[in-house]
Amino acid sequence: MSLSPLVPAAREPLAALFGPHLAALGQRTAAALESCGYEALLVHSGSLLPVFQDDRTYPFEANAPFKVWTPLAEVPDCFVHVQPGHRPRLLFHRPTDYWYKPAPLPQDYWTAHFEIVPCTDLTAARAALPRSLARTAYLGEDFGTLAAWNVGEVNPPRLIRHLDFPRAMKSPYELACLRAANRLGALGHLAAERAFTDGAAEFDIELAFLAACGQREQDLPYNPIIALNENGAVLHYQVLEKRAPQTRRSLLIDAGAEFGGYASDITRTYAAAAGDFAALIQAMDTLQQSLCAHVKAGVDWREVHLLAHQLLAHVLRDADLISCDPDEAIASGVTRVFLPHGIGHLLGLEVHDAGGFMRSPDGGDIARPEGHPYLRLTRTLAPGFVVTMEPGLYFIEPLLAAARADARARLIRWSRVDSLQPCGGIRVEDDLAVSATGCENLTRDAFAAAHNGR
Ligand code: GLY
Ligand code: MN
Ligand code: MN
Repeated sequence: MSLSPLVPAAREPLAALFGPHLAALGQRTAAALESCGYEALLVHSGSLLPVFQDDRTYPFEANAPFKVWTPLAEVPDCFVHVQPGHRPRLLFHRPTDYWYKPAPLPQDYWTAHFEIVPCTDLTAARAALPRSLARTAYLGEDFGTLAAWNVGEVNPPRLIRHLDFPRAMKSPYELACLRAANRLGALGHLAAERAFTDGAAEFDIELAFLAACGQREQDLPYNPIIALNENGAVLHYQVLEKRAPQTRRSLLIDAGAEFGGYASDITRTYAAAAGDFAALIQAMDTLQQSLCAHVKAGVDWREVHLLAHQLLAHVLRDADLISCDPDEAIASGVTRVFLPHGIGHLLGLEVHDAGGFMRSPDGGDIARPEGHPYLRLTRTLAPGFVVTMEPGLYFIEPLLAAARADARARLIRWSRVDSLQPCGGIRVEDDLAVSATGCENLTRDAFAAAHNGR
């Protein structure tokens, strides 16, 4: 991984931040290994997955437990071997191949912290490891010859919990990567907005996003959601229509970029013209900002989620979408018709990062509030957490149909729903870095910098 030319200098040079990141990671890994009874850790970057009865493979995604050690996101069959007290070793897969171009030996800012051993294949990788791996925990897929490696245990759940729990607290190095991922994402979003204003189809809006980020779709942390008009009501809309619709009403774009293995996760909604839908976007943006203002260490994320429903009930009433008062909208579940997903999640190496429900490494999980099955984070926020804040308001036909058919029907103003449904839905999503006193809005800062050409 090299610095993208599209991201001007990160706030602090990554080279200076990587050493302390790796040292802290090494310390917490040593403690986790000791507590779970292992002497060493072996982490696989991942295997290429062949397409059934074909000679192609699916795009490669490096495993998150590997990417936490190195920003090497593109090379399969590498291993990091961690033995507390020793420099970590990177077994770097460098096959002799003339069908595909082998990745060059990395020389980036992070490599000085590793002993790097080039390996032509898995046999060479095994030979580069200690003879006995009986007290080594292995993380990764069970590739064909793994059984013969005689590792102590494959993917031990307790160790995984001990490693995942602290991943919620990002190091200054990780925060720098997440800022840069937001900077790239904001460049993509601005280009996408311009394409929408010019009347582009969903497919062309995606191309504009990719070109501005300088990334291929397979480089992105998730498949972009680029939804015109009523398609915005499909929460993870995946189609990219190649033809622009005859009438252009709205765009919901949920798309992020990747930097150093870290993701941004950003959503914006635009109206083609002034009017009720544009006013509703503005109301949801204000709601999102008031939720962001609640974010700081010590806050129970479940409370933020429930507060979002309270604020949404007021937006729904002010927009004349419901006829009841906000308390009844919440008690009856009507707000969940319009906002069926969670208010946000941990963000990092994975777009829905690991460990969102853990009470402690050994302490079981924290339940979601009843009636909110899609919330992905139930922990209390701590400094260094990075979370998304993503309230939405959608006109989702199957959920509306269910409400029309039961006691909730009398609480909803159907004529208003009918007039706004062709615009699909609204989501506003930013990435927030939590501190003791508040949060840094990585996404709004990135948009401000992109607007100013910085
Ligand atoms: N882009 C997926 C999400 O917002 O969670
Ligand atoms: Mn998200
Ligand atoms: Mn998103």
